[in-house]
Amino acid sequence: MRVAIYPGSFDPITLGHLDVLRRSLGVFERVVVAVLVNPKKAPMLDVDARVAAIVSGVKEALPDLADRVDVRPFAGLTVDACREVGARYVVRGLRAVSDFEAELQMAHMNHRLAPDIDTVFFMTALEYGYLSSSLVREIVRFGGDPTGMVPPSVAERLVAVAAAEETPVRVR
Ligand code: PNS
Repeated sequence: MRVAIYPGSFDPITLGHLDVLRRSLGVFERVVVAVLVNPKKAPMLDVDARVAAIVSGVKEALPDLADRVDVRPFAGLTVDACREVGARYVVRGLRAVSDFEAELQMAHMNHRLAPDIDTVFFMTALEYGYLSSSLVREIVRFGGDPTGMVPPSVAERLVAVAAAEETPVRVR
């Protein structure tokens, strides 16, 4: 069985990520979405909330494919997470040429660490090419509406988390 891992921070998962996941399921029989636990970063959604957001987002956006998707947290190296789940492929999305340099470096590094593991890139749909998790977080934190950028349940969750955070300082 062809198994791939789709690693990322997913803080939060966006419709662009889900588009890449959908495309990857056209090639791989099973895809494990691996959510990075990075102790050096303070995410907007903690890891359990990110995993829950992905599980519900996959059910909402890709109901017919959900049974071929696993979601799990990981800490450490992506290649080690690959070994744990038996994946020989790493899936990543490319939105624009600007993504390419960093992605190429990561793909080469992962290949150096684990020569039997290859990275496979999928082009994010044009309509999501402008989307990023960091922009979504910024929009929500300043009271903007993330509808159409993330799945509905994730939008609700983000708005609630932003409301519970400290109010941003406003210039009078
Ligand atoms: O969603 P992101 O933040 O672009 O994902 C980056 C991620 C998680 C794929 C990358 O930071 C990663 O693979 N981290 C795990 C640590 C690792 O394996 N580092 C060496 C790869 S170059």
